[in-house]
This record gives sequence, C-alpha cells and structure tokens, in this order.
Amino acid sequence: MSADPTSASATAAPPGPDRYAVAGNPVAHSRSPEIHAAFAAQTGQSLVYERLLCPLDGFEAAIRDFVASGARGCNVTVPFKFDAFRLAARRTSRAELAGAVNTLRFDTEGGWLGDNTDGAGLVADIERNAARPLRGQRVLLIGAGGASAGVLGSLIGGRPAEIRIVNRSADKAVALAASHRAWADDHGVRLSAGGLDAPAPDGRHDVMINGTSASLSGAGLPLPDPDAPVLAVGGLAVDMMYGAAAAPFLDWAAGQAGAGGATRDGLGMLVEQAAEAFLLWRGVRPDSAAVLADLRRRLAAH
Ligand code: ATR
Repeated sequence: MSADPTSASATAAPPGPDRYAVAGNPVAHSRSPEIHAAFAAQTGQSLVYERLLCPLDGFEAAIRDFVASGARGCNVTVPFKFDAFRLAARRTSRAELAGAVNTLRFDTEGGWLGDNTDGAGLVADIERNAARPLRGQRVLLIGAGGASAGVLGSLIGGRPAEIRIVNRSADKAVALAASHRAWADDHGVRLSAGGLDAPAPDGRHDVMINGTSASLSGAGLPLPDPDAPVLAVGGLAVDMMYGAAAAPFLDWAAGQAGAGGATRDGLGMLVEQAAEAFLLWRGVRPDSAAVLADLRRRLAAH
C-alpha cells in the first residue's frame, strides 16, 4: 500500500482554523507546537497546533475524538508510531519501509493517510543544512530500534556507497538490514550489520549517526571502545537526540573527526521532519532553515 505523500487532502475544510496536534505520551516537552506555529505564521496558513496527551492504552480512542472535533491531521511520537501505522488506511512507501507512522492526515475520501517523515527530515538536515550529500559516502548507523528503523529507508534513498548498522543486540541490526535489503540493492547501497564491537571493519565512516537511546539511560557513549577509529577525519556525526542528551556522543565524535569535522544534534532533523509533515498537510513547504535558526537561538538563550 503506498500513496503520493504530496497530493492534497480531499477533506472538506471545517469552520475556523484547521486543527493539528502532536499525539504522544509524554508530549509536554514537545517542540512541535512552536515549530508548526512558526511555519504557519511564515506561510500565512490558518491553523492551530496543540499537544494531545494520549493514555498509554487509549491512543486510538484519543485520535478518534480528536478527528470528531474536526482535526485535519497529527504528528505521532513515542510510544504510538506503531499504533498509528496500524490505524492508517493508506500509507506512503516510506512509512511502509519504516514500519511506523509519525504523521497522519485525516482524509475523508480514501481513509486516513499515514506517512513517516523522520528519515526525510534527517536526510534534509544532513544534505541541506550540513551541506553533506550522502551519495557515495560510507555511513554508520548506531542502533536498530524504532528511531533507526524510521530513517534507514531514507538514508538508503540518498545512495551512499555503504551503510553499516551496529546495535547492542546484533541480531536486531541484522534483522533491520534484512528488512531493507531489497531497497538497498535497488539503490546500489552496500548494507551490513553487526554488534557494537565491530563498528568499522572496513575502515572509518564519513557519516556517523547515533540512533540509540544510550544517553537517556546515563550510559554515555553507545560504543564500548572510545579509542576505536570509527569516524573519518573531517567526517560528520549526527545524534538523533538534541541538546544535552546529544553532547557526550557529539563531543567524542568531534575528537574522532578532528579539523574539518562537523557535528549536529537532532534539532535540525526535528524541524525538517516537521516541515515534511507541514507539506503533506498544507501543500506548502516552509522555510525550515529560518525556523531552525530561530529555535536554536531561543534554546541557547535558556
Ligand atoms: P527508539 O524508539 O528511541 O529507537 P527503542 O526502539 O527502544 O527506542 O531503541 C533503543 C535503541 O537504543 C536500541 O538500538 C537499543 O539497543 P538494543 O536493541 O540492544 O536494546 C539502544 N540502546 C539503548 N540503551 C543502550 C546502551 N546503554 N548502549 C547501547 N545501545 C543502547
């Protein structure tokens, strides 16, 4: 099942500004409302974007109530991306590949459309914001949980020369690679997988992405050997977390990359995945770079 992610919604407009939300548990910390408010102001779109705290055992009921109130779409965050996948009547091919949905559009004709914009957001941040085209690069993806699964298809779409996936439980990395094997072959990307003790068996990587939640558990670096050569001199490191949670990994990566290297936390990915969702809902692409710069300024001031 796949659908064109950019085709306009068939939903009739309800009176008043269109309603959207980020649905999750927890959602109090979410930056999505301010990001979408900035996009709306910038593009002159009339909408309101809220936080929708869903009970852990009541995601579907909460979403149906939200739709009954006239809502047009929502973003979905932890732990409901798999529930959203099941709720979608139609899914984009990138959502199918990810096995998870982070964006729903409540079309009245054809049923709800499920998309996953996380990978496109990460690739946009790497290729546009960091100005590092993925084509031909050697990429390391650390982690094989939901965050990594959500972005792998889009990383392959950037046609790097190779992607190595490593994970604490190596079998999960192997399974993630297997589920993307055909897609990788179609794009001429060499895909390999293993445990955290073998991140770079064929030499250093040009781009290294941390998709683990290691920093949340206070474990610091996801890789066991900080002295192992993993990232090439001048390479780029990205952590899908942002702020303080990304600092240990990015500080270590900066040491590996040396002069000419670059690091990015996940704030750029967050804004870019939101921009993709905004495009899906409104048919307009916002100027995400301006919103990202403004968000960084405001976070730094706190
Ligand atoms: P998410 O949706 O955030 O990706 P997840 O699906 O639970 O959450 O995945 C968490 C990822 O972080 C997994 O790759 C996990 O490794 P395992 O699959 O072996 O559990 C990884 N992870 C969590 N804590 C870690 C740690 N202390 N060191 C290394 N990897 C860790």
